[in-house]
Amino acid sequence: MRMLDIIAQKRLGGKHSDEEIAFVVKAASDPKAGVPDYQLTSWLMAVCCRGMDETETAALTRAMALSGQRLDLKALPAPKVDKHSTGGVGDGISLVLAPLMAAAGLVVPMMSGRGLGHTGGTLDKLEAMKGFRVRMGLPEITAQLGRIGVCMFGQTQDLAPADRTLYSLRDASSTVESIPLVVASILSKKFAEDLDALVLDVKIGSGAIFKNPREAQALSRALVKTARKLGLKSVAVLTAMDQPLGRYVGNSLEVIQAVEILKGDFTSADYAECLFTLGGWMMHLGGKAKSPKEGAAKLEAVIRSGAALEAFRKMVAAHGADPRVADDLELLPKAAMTREIPAPKAGFIAWLDARKVGEAAVILGAGRANKDSELDYGAGFFLEKKVGSQVAKGDCVARVYGSDRSRMDEATAYFLTALKVEGRRPRPMPVIRQVVR
Ligand code: URA
Repeated sequence: MRMLDIIAQKRLGGKHSDEEIAFVVKAASDPKAGVPDYQLTSWLMAVCCRGMDETETAALTRAMALSGQRLDLKALPAPKVDKHSTGGVGDGISLVLAPLMAAAGLVVPMMSGRGLGHTGGTLDKLEAMKGFRVRMGLPEITAQLGRIGVCMFGQTQDLAPADRTLYSLRDASSTVESIPLVVASILSKKFAEDLDALVLDVKIGSGAIFKNPREAQALSRALVKTARKLGLKSVAVLTAMDQPLGRYVGNSLEVIQAVEILKGDFTSADYAECLFTLGGWMMHLGGKAKSPKEGAAKLEAVIRSGAALEAFRKMVAAHGADPRVADDLELLPKAAMTREIPAPKAGFIAWLDARKVGEAAVILGAGRANKDSELDYGAGFFLEKKVGSQVAKGDCVARVYGSDRSRMDEATAYFLTALKVEGRRPRPMPVIRQVVR
């Protein structure tokens, strides 16, 4: 079998056999296979343009999942559940959900990623807490799950190595937006976690991978169907990503948001709704609630009891950071400067483009402009106003946090291009758009 023939076959719209897919996955996971990156990248582009059917997508997912090792969590009696988001702006919900679900009696092995483009990454947010270690081997992850029921870690060489290679090639070759490639990437990593159930948060709107609702729905259906083929119970919840989620965008800032929620402050209503919907489904699929609604109510009680915050403290300590951060947010890295962005005119906030706010955060240093950029953990935005808020001219719409005056000037100007103020109150847009089962 030759890689060149496989590329040509897909370029012409052909269908791959399981053996051909296994060949590509081996090429991506084993440098000794001798297939150069440019051939893998050509194949990715051919898949992106020509697509893959359900059978090919399941075969690719299975082969990528089996390209490395898997956690073995059979010895742990509690159900193992996880949540995966396709990526957004201000979406630090994993920081809350992981300890919250552990406090509710589930086991949460949560493999997470770094920021990608304009979207934030869970690992970067966790590392805003000084000393938080996410590079862990399988024995250590398993032991921590047995001890405290939660572990948040990065992808290692051992887990789904084919995805590591393909993901970085996709990021650098404009081949991210392909449903079969996204499905295989997400599910191969989740399969390696030895889960009983998975809740998928598929973002929809300007800040999402797929802006178009039809494509986001197609992705949700493909994810749920393929997960089922792999024996994994799952649902996909389509959630709004037209404006940033919650009030904070940035790494330290999103830890603050997480701690506020864990303390029972639900004033960031869209964030809380998203949290309880996803968490409710995790409880239901994990067998801890008869319905997602009952699951959500139980989770609210766990937060109000203080058990979720205590699980967060334990998790932070287990990963090597200072658990006092839960009680003293001053321990988080802070930006050197802050300034306000005033409303350019009176009216209602009609639009606050999530993608542009995410890009403005990257300008501030909250995300990486390229692979080697250093992060400024304190940088980002606090959103004083969100879509639907009424403002007078000059009212503070957002607070900018940064450490470099010229970057702050540029980010402020860019933020203003994300903002539309209009005379009429906009129609409220639901946060939860659809559940695909
Ligand atoms: N998240 C992933 O893990 N993979 C993708 O391809 C897109 C989002």
